Amino acid sequence: MNTPAPIAMLAELTHRCPLACPYCSNPVALTQKAQELPTEVWVSAFQQAAELGVLQLHLSGGEPLARHDLSDLIAAARDAGLYTNLITSAIGLTEKRLKTLEDAGLDHIQLSLQGTDTEMADYIGGYKGGFARKMQAAAWVRAAGIPLTLNTVLHRKNLHQLPRAIEMALEMEARRIEVAIVQFHGWALDNRAALMPTKEQADEATRLVIKARGIYKGRLVLDYVPADYHTGVPKRCMGGWGMVGLNIAPDGQVLPCHAAQTIPGLTFQRIDDTPLRDIWYNGPAFNAYRGDNWMQEPCKSCEFKKRDFGGCRCQAMAIAGDAAATDPTCQKSPLNVQLQNLTNHTQNEDEIELTYRKM
Ligand code: FES
Repeated sequence: MNTPAPIAMLAELTHRCPLACPYCSNPVALTQKAQELPTEVWVSAFQQAAELGVLQLHLSGGEPLARHDLSDLIAAARDAGLYTNLITSAIGLTEKRLKTLEDAGLDHIQLSLQGTDTEMADYIGGYKGGFARKMQAAAWVRAAGIPLTLNTVLHRKNLHQLPRAIEMALEMEARRIEVAIVQFHGWALDNRAALMPTKEQADEATRLVIKARGIYKGRLVLDYVPADYHTGVPKRCMGGWGMVGLNIAPDGQVLPCHAAQTIPGLTFQRIDDTPLRDIWYNGPAFNAYRGDNWMQEPCKSCEFKKRDFGGCRCQAMAIAGDAAATDPTCQKSPLNVQLQNLTNHTQNEDEIELTYRKM
């Protein structure tokens, strides 16, 4: 098969984060500060990514503001010709630092929203005072005129706040809002029972998003990640394994997706000892699930295999115990009934304590 060049790269600069969101997509075993890549290796990675064809660089974490060299990294990415998007909780941002990041060439900010009021946001983020600091930061971003996307992860505890989240995006003059119903990887999988939306909530979210798209057309773009356990339709995860984008973990491992380390048997190469071009085109982990040669039935003969690539490999691993299996969120998977049963809400689930992310 002809492998296209990647369009986007996610640089997970650090796993350090002041928040403790129980749905964090970082691995459950987090990388410590001492293992993080130094500035010069990231700079080289950005140059190599641009030469490879990457256009968009997403600077993420953990919380990327925890890196003191963030403005140097943004400047290096700009010099390499990359469009930079900072994915942040904004905790740790000051007006002065925002100006430094802007001067370094930052193109876009994606601000996370854990809830639409102090009580919910501080509870979900596990950080008292976080909501107030975030709102202050949003005001600075708005005043600076930096293009903004609001990103909200919704689940059983906060899905009722979706209408207010959309209003807040408009008030912040965000150009987009990403409405993502929680996807069960990493810490979210550990908290699945506590976070699983009810069927009614999942349906209502879809209805609200469709309605809002009509009302705010031309003013606000709504990106939507539906609740895949509820639909019987698997997601086109990563736009296809090794087809659109790549991730670099804080310690330098280059991954086909943020959760790829949950798949045993994959060998990951490192950005500090192998050229990025080699990793993308020839790396064993990137070729493991590229195209459709690896597929089993029912994916192999499925009419939708080029549309959804059999769903998410990491989810297949987590639930079916085989990364080459059909994603169990697909109604053609023998495990789908079992998964749909997990969406049947019981009263006990409301009392389950959250397990917060911690280093
Ligand atoms: Fe890894 Fe979906 S999260 S392929």
